[in-house]
Amino acid sequence: MRILLTSSSRHGSTDEIASVIAEHLRAGGLEVDVKRPEAVDDVEGYDAFILGSAIYMTHWTQEATDFTKRFLMQLSTKPVWAFSVGLSGLPQGKISDPQRIGPVLLSLDVKNHVTFAGRFDPTRLNLRERTIARLGGATEGDNVDAEAVRAWADTIRAELTGA
Ligand SMILES: Cc1cc2nc3c(=O)[nH]c(=O)nc-3n(C[C@H](O)[C@H](O)[C@H](O)COP(=O)(O)O)c2cc1C
Repeated sequence: MRILLTSSSRHGSTDEIASVIAEHLRAGGLEVDVKRPEAVDDVEGYDAFILGSAIYMTHWTQEATDFTKRFLMQLSTKPVWAFSVGLSGLPQGKISDPQRIGPVLLSLDVKNHVTFAGRFDPTRLNLRERTIARLGGATEGDNVDAEAVRAWADTIRAELTGA
């Protein structure tokens, strides 16, 4: 069972969450490749996909959205999970916000989409980013909850392995 996990991150928190998921799945005996969506030019040989993106200005990154467009056909024949990383609390476990997840991804039969809390560390951002985040009501801090991420990864492992 080979899984492709794409992580689209600008400041590292989505990558961190992707690593937690990958490590958890590998510990459960699955093979996981973690890649930037824009670095993938072939999805042949993968049995399942996990698509992750940071949210900026209510959207997935362009690279993450482009990936779903480029591989829409292949993604529609395999199990796909998706996660978004942001700071405002969307209801979890539902694809309830088309703007966030993107209309392209909505046309996929995603098994499950969750939003994980990310990180707002102004020292890592430029002035423009800091201003936008503050205007959006972001509060400083690292809200990455590795336990919640592992619990979600566990549901994927259980579904893929039947154990
Ligand atoms: C300029 C900017 C815009 C953002 N817009 C949103 C947003 O619309 N919704 C949201 O939930 N979080 C938003 N965030 C918070 C980021 O999604 C959060 O910091 C996340 O952890 C970033 O992921 P990354 O470290 O992988 O890039 C924004 C952050 C910045 C700096």
